[in-house]
Amino acid sequence: MQQSIDQTRQQFLHDIEKVHTSTDLEELKVKFLGRKGPIQDFMKQLKTVESDQRRVAGKLINDLKVFITDQCAEKESRLISHEENLQLESEGIDITLPGRKKFIGRKHPLTAAMDQMVDILMGMGFSVQTGPDIDTDYYNFQVLNFPPEHPARDMHDTFYISPHVLLRTHTSNIQARVMEQHKPPIRIIALGKSYRNETITARSHVFFHQLEAVYIDKNATFADLLATLNEFLEKLFNKKIEIRYRPSYFPFVEPGMEVDISCLVCEGKGCSMCKHSGWLEIAGAGMIHPEVLKQGGIDSESFSGFAWGMGLERLVIILKKVQDIRLFSENDIRFLNQFTSL
Ligand code: DAH
Repeated sequence: MQQSIDQTRQQFLHDIEKVHTSTDLEELKVKFLGRKGPIQDFMKQLKTVESDQRRVAGKLINDLKVFITDQCAEKESRLISHEENLQLESEGIDITLPGRKKFIGRKHPLTAAMDQMVDILMGMGFSVQTGPDIDTDYYNFQVLNFPPEHPARDMHDTFYISPHVLLRTHTSNIQARVMEQHKPPIRIIALGKSYRNETITARSHVFFHQLEAVYIDKNATFADLLATLNEFLEKLFNKKIEIRYRPSYFPFVEPGMEVDISCLVCEGKGCSMCKHSGWLEIAGAGMIHPEVLKQGGIDSESFSGFAWGMGLERLVIILKKVQDIRLFSENDIRFLNQFTSL
């Protein structure tokens, strides 16, 4: 029996060399371990073996069975990884390439600020309006009560494209367009880029973003302007803040004022951000000049309105303690990655 066991082992080793697929392997297992295979035969023959040799013969049979089973298992795992490799090869996947890192996108800090402001004002009944970046002198200046040669034009270092066409210097250019197209009550927000021919430094740029709010109705009052601005700023900064109104001059409002908030960095004590005044200027505002209403085709006897305009970069600089306005347009991922929301 020993001899036949050795022969079977040789036969098995010979056959397994020819196994190249899982089907071949299954057939091999059936051939050697199946009911009609040699192992079962040996077991049957074991009964005829002399009782003193049975233990030795039994061990030999069992060793062969274990040997065949182990060899088959090993072959199986080699076949599986080989087949997987073949599949990967046919799919053209190079598993040695390093994985690709997923970058999670974020809103640009100015977009985040814009979205938040729009959200607040929409909640108060305002809707968004846009206007052209390249506009006429008429909409950017004349209709807003800046006649030609008006000294207030000097404040707006304007990029002229031709004598009558320019890059808008403020988003107030949208006011008259809206008045021409809509009847009061009007409650709109106008936002977008504005352009001024200034030297680019850490504090100023040739373009920046503005948000303008305009409200025109039968009895719009100065008190409405203050209440709306207060509510808006408290929602924006998410806390009660001290607000200061200073009289100022803009040709398209009367009375006009500038809006300051107590410095968020030093809480009014004085720091470099607020130039040691304790206050940060954040907006211009006022009651819409009757002349502007008239130009927009609105009867200034029956209707009144208020407007305010603010620069977005200024606000985000304050809120996020950004040192240099140029960072907003340089697209440096190290800068942009620092912002999750406003
Ligand atoms: N347009 C002005 C500027 O860019 C800001 C401004 C001031 C807008 C007063 C307004 C306003 O609507 O009422 O300097």
